[in-house]
Amino acid sequence: MAIVGNHPVRASILVVDDDVGVRESFEAVLAKDYDLSFATQGVEALRILSTKDVNLVLLDVRMPGMDGIEVLRRIKEANEQTDVIVVTAVKSLKTAVEAIKLGAFDYITKPFDIHEILALIKRVVEKQELVKEVLYLRDEVARDHRFENLVGRNARMQEIYALITRIADNNATVLLNGESGTGKEVLARAIHQQSNRNHRPFVAVNCAAIPSELLESELFGHEKGAFTGAIATKVGKFELANGGTLFLDEVGSMRFDLQAKILRALQEREIERVGGTRIIKIDVRVLAATNRDLKKAVEEGTFREDLYYRLNVVPITLPPLRQRRDDVPLLVEHFIAKYNREFNRRVKGFSAGATAALYQYEWPGNVRELENVIERAVALAQSEIISLRELPLDIFILGRDIIEDIQKVGLGLREARNQFERHYILTILEKVYWNQTEAARILGLHRNTLLWKLQRLNIEPARKF
Ligand SMILES: Nc1ncnc2c1ncn2[C@@H]1O[C@H](COP(=O)(O)OP(=O)(O)OP(=O)(O)O)[C@@H](O)[C@H]1O
Ligand SMILES: [Mg+2]
Repeated sequence: MAIVGNHPVRASILVVDDDVGVRESFEAVLAKDYDLSFATQGVEALRILSTKDVNLVLLDVRMPGMDGIEVLRRIKEANEQTDVIVVTAVKSLKTAVEAIKLGAFDYITKPFDIHEILALIKRVVEKQELVKEVLYLRDEVARDHRFENLVGRNARMQEIYALITRIADNNATVLLNGESGTGKEVLARAIHQQSNRNHRPFVAVNCAAIPSELLESELFGHEKGAFTGAIATKVGKFELANGGTLFLDEVGSMRFDLQAKILRALQEREIERVGGTRIIKIDVRVLAATNRDLKKAVEEGTFREDLYYRLNVVPITLPPLRQRRDDVPLLVEHFIAKYNREFNRRVKGFSAGATAALYQYEWPGNVRELENVIERAVALAQSEIISLRELPLDIFILGRDIIEDIQKVGLGLREARNQFERHYILTILEKVYWNQTEAARILGLHRNTLLWKLQRLNIEPARKF
């Protein structure tokens, strides 16, 4: 299902121009594919717009009566969603700037180039389709695909939500597994939020980010003078989390001797500060996360078996993003909204080619990588709809999958060629708005050959986001 090319309803265009010659040439070019109406001056145009659903207005600037710029202002006042392309005989930078400022989609000069105007109209229609789709999705997202801050409705994620709801209140230790960027920390926070400890603190400690000689005092605190540099008493994270939840992130990188102390704290429910003599009772629920295979670490002797079993009471493994591609559209939508707010932008969505790339990409960095890509794209967006060219995936697909893989794992020539072909075909398809006949022509292929290639390379017509 391509976004452009198969609209069941013809888009409607209003041509506003006092010159009958211009109106006739638009009619000759557009009547076949669009539902056209005409006005010879501004007031008439506004009247038509108030009674008829129009997708796009092609608007002349110099007309008797109200001039085009004023008409544009009023059109946008009445309905911001109506797109306007300003068409003028007189090239004037000032007018162009003003038109764009007032919200015109684009600005072209007469005599117009037929291909240019057709391509432009296609872009408008494509954008409007996407906007509709995005608004629909926004509704959907708001409805029921969220669990705390977790976006996703993939079956595996739903199982996880159900599991969390069941175990939230029973204080069981949970071990979260999953590749980097799959959402382990978000999940830990969700468990805490769902539990009856949610009015008490959630304290996170990244065991890999703190030098191991400091980690003990970070977790258990220390008394003044316990070691050089301990100039004041320090309360540890276990105490800070009292009554709440302690999240031990990257627990797999904890030093062996410290592991014994953690085990003791979990079993006895009490701790001692470094250099202290007092036993401190604690009531803390522990959640732990790792992106390493802890079982293997146990076999290799770098992780204590007893601690492993103590942590692994409820194991939860988060699937990598490439195994839940059906969540990509929701996540994209979620992050666009987030970064629109943050950067005060008005990005509406992605073009067909960009959508396909986001969907097919392997996401080695999972949701975090997706989020970074969207953040960057929204920050740098040139228009409301982000195209494939604006995505670093463009480079990733070529750069990472081909060049890096060739160097590191020795990608076979056939696979390298496939990846290049897929990337190149996608780029061309994007350029011609997924018109396969046109793409085949540019690629120098018979249309059937292209279709066969699309199938073989797993390129699906763009999915709507
Ligand atoms: N299901 C999700 N919905 C919304 N945002 C998500 C989801 N999963 C992850 N994220 C976002 O992706 C980023 C990475 O998530 P998080 O820090 O939880 O990953 P992680 O599994 O802890 O990774 P690491 O192992 O590298 O620490 C965060 O910005 C988080 O908000
Ligand atoms: Mg993390």
